[in-house]
Amino acid sequence: MRHLLIKGRFLLLALVLTFVTSACEKEAVTIPTVEQTNPTKTTNHEKPKDEKIKIGFSMDTLQEERWLRDRDLFKKSVEALGAEVEILAANGDDALQISQAERLISQGVDLLVIVPHNAEATAAIVHKAHLAGIKVIAYDRLVKNADIDLYVSFDNEKVGELQGEAITKLVPKGNYVYIGGAMTDNNALLFKKGVFNVLQPLIDNGDIKIVYDQWTKDWTPANALANMEAALKANGNQIDAVIAANDATAGGVIQALQAHGLAGKVPVAGQDAELAAAQRIIEGTQTMTVYKPIQSLTEKVAQLAVKIAKGEIIDAKQKVNNGKIEVPSVLLQPIAVDRSNIDDTIIADGFHSRADVYKNDDSR
Ligand code: BGC
Repeated sequence: MRHLLIKGRFLLLALVLTFVTSACEKEAVTIPTVEQTNPTKTTNHEKPKDEKIKIGFSMDTLQEERWLRDRDLFKKSVEALGAEVEILAANGDDALQISQAERLISQGVDLLVIVPHNAEATAAIVHKAHLAGIKVIAYDRLVKNADIDLYVSFDNEKVGELQGEAITKLVPKGNYVYIGGAMTDNNALLFKKGVFNVLQPLIDNGDIKIVYDQWTKDWTPANALANMEAALKANGNQIDAVIAANDATAGGVIQALQAHGLAGKVPVAGQDAELAAAQRIIEGTQTMTVYKPIQSLTEKVAQLAVKIAKGEIIDAKQKVNNGKIEVPSVLLQPIAVDRSNIDDTIIADGFHSRADVYKNDDSR
């Protein structure tokens, strides 16, 4: 019996040793030793020189104008660097986004880029990718409570501040409505924080009263419209300004105002510089939007993704806390757009054509 036990222990030891040795061998292949001498050096699988870097792009949705642009420009940016990208979109379904990401991981992509639908739920994807030795970049939206490798976005708090500044300049006093984004999206929290950075002193001195403040489930215009209807009803239509977290929700807000003969009378802010919003700015029913040059984002992410996949050093000095770690981050600058600078910004950049933006302009 004792003999058997000793034999068993030896067997176990042999097994453990084999496992450790093969793990070390694997380590030596997948993580170049340079990482030990330079901790900022990022690494990934070793690839034969002539094989293209393959990036997986896991998107929340393609049901909004902006994300179609992100998809197309990201593909272009990646391909311009001689790499390739496989794109999957989950259209707002958390379970589907996770299973699509798993598919990309098992296909052996070199790096994963995620636009999370749900900031918390997608932490599971980061974990699984890391187990497979694949690094992960959070694109536009932060993944919370995960060891995400990099976050690239716009300065989203600044987006809210630009909205707050534009609207308080026009309406320094009065009843304000805030129509937020989806509370499952970390950006919605940042946009709101930015808006209230500007509004709070005016709320404190009694100039501004927040008469309605609500999130918009899944960012849909229909939910924003219902919220705005509720805001109008609760306040007997006595509303002086509305700040909506994006152009899609601003569209819902303006539809509700229209039904009460208030469109064009109550200033409304949005963001994304969607074509419909740009047209509403020219028509006078939306006051401003915030323009985020998507091409700068796709080019930045593509460039960093390819570098990381090749194990090169990247430069991301900013840090954003995601509840677990200080995530190395790159935050690009947003631009406030109203009728006065629409030609010099989104039209000059070719984001939209002048003919499209001014399509419904009777004054031309
Ligand atoms: C993006 C916005 C977008 C919203 C809804 C946010 O995370 O930053 O640009 O409008 O999601 O899709």
